[in-house]
Amino acid sequence: MKIILLGPPGAGKGTQAVNLAQKLKLAHISTGDLLRQNVSGGTDLGKQAKSYMEKGALVPDDLVTQMLQRRIQAQDVKKGFILDGYPRNIAQAKALDAMLKQENAAIDFAVYLEASEPVIIQRLTGRLVCKNCGANFHRKNMPPRVEMMCDKCGGTLYQRTDDNEATIKTRLEVYRKEVSALLQYYEAKRQLHRLNADEDADAVLNEIIRLAAKA
Ligand code: AP5
Repeated sequence: MKIILLGPPGAGKGTQAVNLAQKLKLAHISTGDLLRQNVSGGTDLGKQAKSYMEKGALVPDDLVTQMLQRRIQAQDVKKGFILDGYPRNIAQAKALDAMLKQENAAIDFAVYLEASEPVIIQRLTGRLVCKNCGANFHRKNMPPRVEMMCDKCGGTLYQRTDDNEATIKTRLEVYRKEVSALLQYYEAKRQLHRLNADEDADAVLNEIIRLAAKA
């Protein structure tokens, strides 16, 4: 099964993707996480991507698409995937379709996680991420059991450099420019489901699992 999670920054794409991947035994592919690994590893791609990410702008399509193409060919992805953070625009949506077509495959459905701005700001300014395993927490909504320590692996938690109000506003502007066309693209293919992502995370997860069971 191949599922795409679409939605604004802070809608919960990463949170849902991790849980879905575990429940449905699928690979979790996050282009944001892959890019951050490249930045911290100091790769050529990371060096090129860093300044875009710090500003909250999109990294150029060709760089992200090549990175995804490599990831999608990995063995653990053969069983299917939850894709989080890609596509961000029509060019990427078409590139993804073309990538999958080469393997006679296609996505099963896309979920649009709709979240309101005050919820987004509250979530992103309070988000904590594990340096070691990438698990997401929130200072108030989903606090770790021990302060600044990951419940899952004991790693240290940190705040993402792009989770400050100014960069969040830019990320939201970038997102709003592209989202209508992207939603129309999947609506025209009858592959889009919209969910209210302001809801509790477990309620959202159960709804996506229900959609997967019907697909
Ligand atoms: P990326 O890492 O993809 O960031 P994003 O899209 O801005 O999304 P976020 O990770 O901020 O939010 P999320 O929806 O995953 O929310 P989360 O689950 O963490 O991209 C970062 C950058 O990389 C981009 O700006 C761009 O530069 C570049 N990039 C990435 N992909 C690209 C592409 N395809 N093309 C070009 N450039 C690309 O949740 C947030 C917080 O809320 C957490 O603390 C969580 O605990 C909490 N939370 C989640 N759900 C709930 C809930 N239901 N109730 C209460 N709290 C919740």
